Amino acid sequence: YSYVPSPYMRREFSIGKAIAQARLYITALGIYEAHLNGQKIGEAELAPGWTDYARRVRYQTYDVTALLGEGVNCLGAILGDGWFSGHLAWLSRETYGDPPKLLAQLAITYQDGSTETIATGPDWSHGFGAVRSSDLLMGEVQDLRKEPAGWDRPGFAANGWMPVEATKYETKLVAQYAPLIEAVEEIKPVSVRMKGAWPSDRFIFDMGQNMVGKIRFRVQGTAGQTLTFRFAERLDKDGGMYTTNYRSARSTDYVTLAGNGEEVFETKFTFHGFQYVEVAGLSEPPTVDNLSGIVLHSAWEPTGDFSCSEPLLNQLQSNIRWGWKGNSLDVPTDCPQRDERLGWTGDAQVFGRTACFLSDAQTFFEKYQQDLEDSTNADGQIPPVAPTVPKIGIDGGPAWSDAFVICPWTAYRVYGDTTILERHYDAMRKWVDSLQISSRDDIRSYEGYTGFKGFGDWLNTNAETPIELIGTAFYAYSSAIFAKIAAALGNREDAKTYGALSERVKKAFQNRFVTPSGLVSSGTQTAYVLALHFDLLPSDLRAPALQLLVDDIGWRGWKLSTGFVGTSYLPHVLTEGGRLDVAYKLLMQKGWPSWLYAVTQGATTIWERWDGWTEDKGFQDPGMNSFNHYAYGAIGEWLVSTVAGIDLDPDVPAYKKSRLAPRPGGGLTQAQAHLKTRFGKLSSSWAIEGGKFRWNIVVPPNADASTVFPPEASNPTCNGVAVPNQQNLPAGSYEMVADWLTE
Ligand code: BGC
Repeated sequence: YSYVPSPYMRREFSIGKAIAQARLYITALGIYEAHLNGQKIGEAELAPGWTDYARRVRYQTYDVTALLGEGVNCLGAILGDGWFSGHLAWLSRETYGDPPKLLAQLAITYQDGSTETIATGPDWSHGFGAVRSSDLLMGEVQDLRKEPAGWDRPGFAANGWMPVEATKYETKLVAQYAPLIEAVEEIKPVSVRMKGAWPSDRFIFDMGQNMVGKIRFRVQGTAGQTLTFRFAERLDKDGGMYTTNYRSARSTDYVTLAGNGEEVFETKFTFHGFQYVEVAGLSEPPTVDNLSGIVLHSAWEPTGDFSCSEPLLNQLQSNIRWGWKGNSLDVPTDCPQRDERLGWTGDAQVFGRTACFLSDAQTFFEKYQQDLEDSTNADGQIPPVAPTVPKIGIDGGPAWSDAFVICPWTAYRVYGDTTILERHYDAMRKWVDSLQISSRDDIRSYEGYTGFKGFGDWLNTNAETPIELIGTAFYAYSSAIFAKIAAALGNREDAKTYGALSERVKKAFQNRFVTPSGLVSSGTQTAYVLALHFDLLPSDLRAPALQLLVDDIGWRGWKLSTGFVGTSYLPHVLTEGGRLDVAYKLLMQKGWPSWLYAVTQGATTIWERWDGWTEDKGFQDPGMNSFNHYAYGAIGEWLVSTVAGIDLDPDVPAYKKSRLAPRPGGGLTQAQAHLKTRFGKLSSSWAIEGGKFRWNIVVPPNADASTVFPPEASNPTCNGVAVPNQQNLPAGSYEMVADWLTE
């Protein structure tokens, strides 16, 4: 790949008057790290992040008043290739352009009221420094001998620095929205061991956690000594680095030391997904103190947590959380480590609700919605990934392109802000209309359709559900969602039109895929799950269909066979259908395929595949085997809504009214969830002990909750007073107690 060093750019300027205020507006095509008078500006990493640069580039604004002074000042920046010029997915470099470019404007207001602007232009110069090359997928090369000390301060002798080239680039500049990526936490390795036989210069650190970000390495060495860092999520059977599943992402960093005492190596313009770090080239054995893992992700605020009496489920919850951390770097991605890292729509759609529990992801999803809209073609179709990349198709197909209405609807329900719906309303309607292209007689992805039919129930376990069934089910579901969006915005006409469309597609679904006795075509779990969850069956067929679903699970030894499409809805369907017992059986199942299988194998993130690694088969096909893929982590939604019992009211957004209805099971004796809502803290925490069900709830100010005791509870009380099983409670803290019947 490119070995072009990162440009270091600078400009000096004089200030002769007292400053009242100074703001820096800055962005790049590529990645920038801005400096002013010797200091890095702001906390952002990998800024300005990733958008379809040809359509939209976000700029960031920093108050730099305190960093400026009278006399000579120096503004500078280092540029990395990033998404703009570097490798993107399995494609080559320069998807958007090359080389990276900087745009900055320092707006100074003096105390006398006059103003001055220092902007990027021909009066800047550039040189090179320690960053010899950088690439998000390949890694970064630094030569610390080459760092021009003081380059970002006034008075630096910029000998040999060259003028910059001013260029034009047509796009839309917009102010930053959504949180920037930041170094959110630092973790220490749990161990380090030598690789190979003594004397080896190679050591493998175990971070104890599959994480995403970069490393900081402290070392003392000699000038010209080069260290190589490789990254892996797993070790192979000989204890070496297993990197085959990274595919063409080389994911390797190099540093050449300057040899002047203790040096700190930290990359600027790359990130890796890893649990293990191998360092080669050391002259002395390191300790865990030499290395830190710097966790990078969009700096959303954490909002929700879940825990219970079963340690394996707590580990699952931790894995879900780390899956979100590692796959929310400005774009909701499928995976953070291999040559992919794309904003896959299907994955984002299934995990969205869980993401919105774990974090305040409102603006994160607003940003993604804009990425989706920026990716539409003239017909309004939505591609499989956003920001879109060349050669990947114009239509994501069922369950993938549907993210365009599902994600914003989820965000609206959780946060109660109609902005995301208003802003993208026309494009969403156009997208629903565009489904006619892939449909005939309301059957979407119909057999003879020559366009892209879809990914099906991706990664199911030998239980293929027909694509046209999935397509038609999602056609009915998404048009129903759009009708609700229209209603939420007060557009009754559209609400009626698209509600009717949904009903019509539902009829087509029934005629084509459902028998009079409730058999749903193909008989897979996902077929039943979609039919039930999207309410596509005549009411008298719901019970038989549910039984057929349970039968299928039963004869598989209480195992699921669903892929990305069916899995997230499966436990909800079972719960709503009165088979909570089966939902818990699946949840507590430890053999694969199950959520806990990976946990029993020491996973610290969610795996892409149910069988990413098994005792008998070893690693799955390295062509597609990520150990950090959040999609199956969508079970997080059920843990919160059903196990702990915090859910949204179906008709009232933002938990202004919540539904608190825990459903204990699976042998759990205790569970709890806390959530910071727009109204304040909402929580539900229960324990079963000595024949009593004790349930503490907190309803935030200006909100209320409908509370439902589990059916096994009798003689319920609230703060010591007898109450009915179901009641509405205003804001406050309550101690609920009931007798608990155990078999
Ligand atoms: C990605 C997925 C994605 C899928 C679509 C894979 O390569 O990693 O998560 O949804 O392709 O088929």
